[in-house]
Amino acid sequence: MKPAKTVYVCQECGGQQPKWVGRCPDCDAWNTLVEEQPAPQSAPVAANHRYSLVSGGASAKLYSEIQTSDAPRIPSGVGEFDRVLGGGIVPGALVLLGGEPGIGKSTLLLQVAAHVARTVGPVLYSSGEESEHQIKLRGERLGVDRSPLYLLAETCLERILEEIERLKPSLVVVDSIQTIFSARFQSAPGSIGQVREVATHLLFAAKGRNVPIVLVGHITKDGNLAGPKALEHVVDTVLYFEGERHHAHRVVRTFKNRFGAASELGVFEMTGSGLREIPNPSQLFLAERSIGKPGSAVLCCIEGSRPILVEVQALVTSSTFGNARRMASGIDQQRLSLLLAVMEKRAGLNLLGDDVYVNVAGGMTVDEPAADLGVVAAVASSVQNRAVGTNTAVFGEVGLGGEIRAIMQASLRLREAARMGFERCIVPLANADIPRSERPANCEIVGVRTVDEALQALLQ
Ligand code: TYD
Ligand code: MG
Repeated sequence: MKPAKTVYVCQECGGQQPKWVGRCPDCDAWNTLVEEQPAPQSAPVAANHRYSLVSGGASAKLYSEIQTSDAPRIPSGVGEFDRVLGGGIVPGALVLLGGEPGIGKSTLLLQVAAHVARTVGPVLYSSGEESEHQIKLRGERLGVDRSPLYLLAETCLERILEEIERLKPSLVVVDSIQTIFSARFQSAPGSIGQVREVATHLLFAAKGRNVPIVLVGHITKDGNLAGPKALEHVVDTVLYFEGERHHAHRVVRTFKNRFGAASELGVFEMTGSGLREIPNPSQLFLAERSIGKPGSAVLCCIEGSRPILVEVQALVTSSTFGNARRMASGIDQQRLSLLLAVMEKRAGLNLLGDDVYVNVAGGMTVDEPAADLGVVAAVASSVQNRAVGTNTAVFGEVGLGGEIRAIMQASLRLREAARMGFERCIVPLANADIPRSERPANCEIVGVRTVDEALQALLQ
């Protein structure tokens, strides 16, 4: 008998090579090839069978005859989690929740599982990482009481599928896709072949039985989900759990969502009894704001469909070394360099011999152009040692000519600023002309055309 052939599979992109090589020819990643057994011979037959499960029938259906109203979303009991999912859990959806170890993935999903079990029906929480006893200990901390919540400490895919078949749950949680293996497939758990195989089987289980399945995914050193490309294409929704170890608050971000807006944001706080949702993040991010001090500006950014006010801080000091340092955290370093160059050339500020440090308070990351004016305001305020007017918020994109460009969704940002008690907003001139009906009361809107004008309006 011929010995079974092995292939070498890139753990980054899933590309297969007949021989081991140091660099994947498909994606150019180094040292990512791992020896794996190819899928069993019967795979095409199995695949055909699976396809029929996704559609639930072989024949095509007429668009107008397809019912959508009979599958309402399931509320997860955690408002911020519903928000990132686009308004609740969609039956039959396969959701992937990725995040660093210890960030709170298992905690959040146990809370959600307990709520759904209590309100809708049986839930299966299967974990390949913790024993039932450990999960229950955590549950006690979270105040999970008697509810039809089934715990399963299992790493074998086929066993999990059997339990799904037996219990007919209304929600399934699979804690860490990287620990699950399929007995039909001989590669090690966590290898890209297994991860893809397991995810595909769970996808068909979700679609076939119309049960939502949430997968937990580990993140690799460089911040990607293990087997990133392979997984993100398979699932309906990809969520990332982010947060800094030194801050109590956590952020869940939507990266992809077939059932709602992408780049939606949910904010949580880790407490002694689980994750608590924060429905008003602006308040959290502005809580420790240094009012009336130079080097601080408040800007209004949009995360998904939600406006959030954040504080940008800047510190400009004379450099003791030959070449000045520029450090940015929470905003793009390149963007900071560009804005500093514009300020030098167009607003006459001399920053050549200065170190510039810029930080977005509270560990937030802002990556939209509307943040430009906030950064410029904070830096100029620090250079000139003059505070930005109290109760003043800013937003606007800065062009290379020093002009302030219009940004999207200005009225949403203005309303959020007014709601948080800001009485003055410095905005691009093109955005200042807002219909009276959309104009928030008690908030003065100042339109500016150039960086110079903006700084004059901002600095006291
Ligand atoms: P966990 O959900 O186990 O993280 P993950 O599954 O993403 O690896 O969260 C573990 C961390 O959360 C751990 O450091 C302890 C902390 N924690 C609390 O602060 N309060 C709680 O009620 C719970 C359950 C955990
Ligand atoms: Mg965990």
